[in-house]
Amino acid sequence: MTRLAGKVAIVTGGARGMGEATVRFLLEEGARILIGDVLDEPGQALANELGEDVIYTHLDVSQKSDWEAAVKKTEQLGPLTVLVNNAAILFQKTIMDTSEDDFLKIVSVNQLGVFLGMQSVFPNLKVNGGGSIINVSSVDGLQSKNSLVAYSSTKWAVRGMTKAAALEMGKFNIRVNSVHPGGIYTAMHGAEFMTQEDANQFYQHHAIPRVGMPREVAALTAFLASDEATYSTGAEFIADGGWSAGLVNDALPQL
Ligand SMILES: NC(=O)c1ccc[n+]([C@@H]2O[C@H](COP(=O)([O-])OP(=O)(O)OC[C@H]3O[C@@H](n4cnc5c(N)ncnc54)[C@H](O)[C@@H]3O)[C@@H](O)[C@H]2O)c1
Repeated sequence: MTRLAGKVAIVTGGARGMGEATVRFLLEEGARILIGDVLDEPGQALANELGEDVIYTHLDVSQKSDWEAAVKKTEQLGPLTVLVNNAAILFQKTIMDTSEDDFLKIVSVNQLGVFLGMQSVFPNLKVNGGGSIINVSSVDGLQSKNSLVAYSSTKWAVRGMTKAAALEMGKFNIRVNSVHPGGIYTAMHGAEFMTQEDANQFYQHHAIPRVGMPREVAALTAFLASDEATYSTGAEFIADGGWSAGLVNDALPQL
């Protein structure tokens, strides 16, 4: 399919995991893509593998100057119309074990990074007649867990910033939505030391009783980037296997 033919996208954190799956999915749908990441070797190797419609650049999302250079670089591909703010880092410590430096580091990548991304692409999207910004939040931007005081606060912030940006940018034909993955089998989820079967065990009481795969989120992002989603903005799109709906209670009757 070529639902994204003619579109140029930036995917942050695109060197691996959900970002990589998103790059592959958008490319299959006809987009041209700039991968921005701090993992230069795998990012460049992915771009080399995927051919001339994909380029890599070093982009630390917390650095405004990196954003300016990345947006400039997209001119090699064509008019920029899509941003996938996917990069983030996970941090799991209690409130009492989280230092001020820890907290600010997570905020600088997961929250400031998304803000800088939206701010940096806006002038180009406006001039190019509109576009779609997809901010990757989390199920932890809808609820939370013990040990996620820093991470979860940034994911709620992404959800809130998405709505503010949608309201400001709508008149320029720019849509802004948040995507909320549940447990997805990537390095962030421990995929490097845990089999998929072991990861499934965490989800036995979920409506869909298994871990999710990166492509299942990439498909949702591709939809939001496409012209099939032209009346959706400022909204939460969830791909969490039903996690936010609740958990199956074995003590109650069930099918
Ligand atoms: N895996 C999950 O279970 C899960 C669940 C909910 C939400 N998410 C979210 O999905 C997104 C992708 O996560 P993933 O599971 O693929 O994680 P991952 O750790 O596999 O990939 C994250 C990517 O972001 C990059 N990155 C980190 N800091 C960066 C920075 N400062 N600038 C640019 N790039 C940077 C990393 O190098 C990496 O390539 C994240 O926003 C994450 O919070 C993941």
